[in-house]
Amino acid sequence: MEVFSLRLQFSRRMKVEWGTIYFEYKDVISMDKITLIATAAMGLEGIVGQELRDLGYENVKVENSRAVFEARPSDIPRVNLWLRSADRVKLLVGKFNAYSFDELFENTKALPWEQFISEDGEFPVIGKSKKSKLYSVPDCQAIVKKAIVERMKQKYGIADRLEETGAFYRVEVDINKDEAWLTLDTSGSGLHKRGYRVGQGEAPLKETLAAALIQVTNWRGDAPFVDLFCGSGTIPIEAALIGQNIAPGFNREFASENWSFVSDRYWDAAFEEAEDKAQYDHPVNIQGMDIDPKMIEISKANAMEAGLGELILFKQMQARDFKPVEKGGYLVSNPPYGERIGDRKEVEKTYRQLGGTMKDFPTWSVYILTAHPQFEKVYGTEATKKRKLFNGFIETNYYQFFGRK
Ligand SMILES: C[S@@+](CC[C@H](N)C(=O)[O-])C[C@H]1O[C@@H](n2cnc3c(N)ncnc32)[C@H](O)[C@@H]1O
Repeated sequence: MEVFSLRLQFSRRMKVEWGTIYFEYKDVISMDKITLIATAAMGLEGIVGQELRDLGYENVKVENSRAVFEARPSDIPRVNLWLRSADRVKLLVGKFNAYSFDELFENTKALPWEQFISEDGEFPVIGKSKKSKLYSVPDCQAIVKKAIVERMKQKYGIADRLEETGAFYRVEVDINKDEAWLTLDTSGSGLHKRGYRVGQGEAPLKETLAAALIQVTNWRGDAPFVDLFCGSGTIPIEAALIGQNIAPGFNREFASENWSFVSDRYWDAAFEEAEDKAQYDHPVNIQGMDIDPKMIEISKANAMEAGLGELILFKQMQARDFKPVEKGGYLVSNPPYGERIGDRKEVEKTYRQLGGTMKDFPTWSVYILTAHPQFEKVYGTEATKKRKLFNGFIETNYYQFFGRK
């Protein structure tokens, strides 16, 4: 029953009796508002911000490498399940200025950790520090750990050591210009781990970046979609998930599934919503090609694992043999960059041939991610738009050539 929006501070084991109504504390507590942070690779934060707005969140603040927004505990399952381009979802327990270890300790101890971490919770602390007086990360981690332990022992009335045998809560202390942000990681493993990658090639694209590349295009499932350099199939698989509105986190687990303040009912509701919104019958026309037959086998295995085996057509093919038969399609690819000595000439030949082919199909939109510094020159056309993005540590450009309507 969701009628309670009181802030209740009972001991975790206590139950509430009210006439004949009997609840577990876990179901009754309602923290009206929490602050969540969707972290993202540099350059993708704006896309994550838009995803959050599309999910119905207002007042999303997009900052460097993160989007910050107000939410409720029931949103933790939702955003973890649905965000396609974010790395992780973290809960902001508090932030404050810290110029000394004492300040770090006292301010950390003043935060309501017991509202989030259960009595037996396991909570390792990780940290980072940038441009701050408190630069020794191991010391900051140790101080934060000590402060939380003291707070929890006081609040839970424990004299001995905390057991730390229960649910897993990864605490992070992130200090930037003397401002400390203390967070709990609600995701567990990074959100790029969708659970479908059973095989990969030499340079697989992160699933979150692949989803971002697709979201930058206007493709939403109704036009032909092709990746000519599909490798392990990441771009076509993410396209199929988008095309059928399937939540990308549907096949995996999250750390906060075991947290008592994130009720099982919230998880059930989020999974039900994802099931309701999925359009498994929506027809899509998605193809993935690669010169390497091994990669085609890997792509097929990954798509099968994602439950999309029948949906995507994978075939072994040279990019130069591509001739679109339909109009108004989208080509989204992450070809080789030609960075290895000896590869560049071959790669440039491929780019040149592709540019030549696509000139004859002006209704197609072409999107290419590459680190090649002279891509437009070799391809033979100036991009309508380009966007700087990082593929891991490699600085790349995302070249966008809009097709004629
Ligand atoms: C950077 S990888 C793509 C990785 C892919 N996005 C993934 O997530 O696994 C480039 C791929 O292009 C393929 N390739 C290279 N030259 C090609 C060509 N001329 N035609 C088609 N595929 C080619 C390679 O076999 C390789 O799998």
